[in-house]
Amino acid sequence: MWRPLLLLSLLLCNDLTIAKATESTQLIILPSQHGDRTCSAPDRNLNDKPIIGILTHPGVGTFDAPRDHSLSYYEKNVSYIAASYVKFAETGGARVIPLIYNEPQERLFQKLELVNGVIFTGGWAKEGLYFDIVQKIFGKVLEKNDAGEHFPVYAMCLGFEILSMIISQSRDILERFNSVYYASSLQFIENANIEGTLFQRFSPELLKKISTDCLVLQNHQFGISPDNFLANPSLSSFFSILTTSADKDGKTYVSTIRSKRYPVTAFQWHPEKNAFEWGSSEIPHSEDAIQVTQHAANYLVSEARKSLNRPSHEEVLSNLIYNYKLTYSGYKGSGNDEAYIFT
Ligand SMILES: *[C@@H]1O[C@H](CO)[C@@H](O)[C@H](O)[C@H]1NC(C)=O
Repeated sequence: MWRPLLLLSLLLCNDLTIAKATESTQLIILPSQHGDRTCSAPDRNLNDKPIIGILTHPGVGTFDAPRDHSLSYYEKNVSYIAASYVKFAETGGARVIPLIYNEPQERLFQKLELVNGVIFTGGWAKEGLYFDIVQKIFGKVLEKNDAGEHFPVYAMCLGFEILSMIISQSRDILERFNSVYYASSLQFIENANIEGTLFQRFSPELLKKISTDCLVLQNHQFGISPDNFLANPSLSSFFSILTTSADKDGKTYVSTIRSKRYPVTAFQWHPEKNAFEWGSSEIPHSEDAIQVTQHAANYLVSEARKSLNRPSHEEVLSNLIYNYKLTYSGYKGSGNDEAYIFT
């Protein structure tokens, strides 16, 4: 006898639901009854579909043992982008086009014309073709800005180091620091003006926490001390120091810099890792740490929206990172969880 009963109760439930729905429908205002929509028109001075170009780095990015920092990767002609940089740009509301460093240069620089901002990633390559390409792209970015286009750059870790070498015109500007896989705080320079920088939209609480708590990941063996930075006229006239940090031995280095004239920000730390990399227990993942990643991403993309470069839709689609395969290598740990590998 239970079967018909169950069926009956199901029917009853359904009936009740329907009755309820009918009752409440009368209270719902249908879209057609709203009158005119009040969505504001897009700001014509901003580009709401910004594209970020990310330069690939030699190697495969998985740090297989033995970890290969050698120039043999140039011979192997393989390069990669850790997916965390791609997700970082996407977090801010942008799409990504990979700038493949070892592609024929004509093609590489055509792709630069499809983007509204550039990221130079972390890595180890400080010489050879990779260095030359960073230098050329950076030169073109400054030209774009000089010609009146707002075109931002984020340079992380190795990117910070290479921009310092380029601006100082010295290959010996870097010093040794002990900061491999090390979470740290950021100490703001006295009277640092954070207006118009990535820190502008941090809440007062987060600004305080980032200087007392270990909310950012450092992973580098090189860096520049504030004294050496300030003693170099080219560096100190091009960049303002925003923050410094201390390494495992308590030695202080410059950790965030911002160009005085161009929308160029360089980080010795890794704003992209907190939300997207899991290979080291040192990577901060707290809610505050994730906010640091999100604010940094939002700021880059808000700068890229000011670029008015609007390339053809088709050209953009056929060059987007979505045309490439993602490789998961998180099982090995200590590398990048996911990477795009270009062979
Ligand atoms: C090296 O790789 C790039 C990018 O995939 C490719 O365009 C280029 O033709 C390759 N060069 C050689 C010599 O194989």
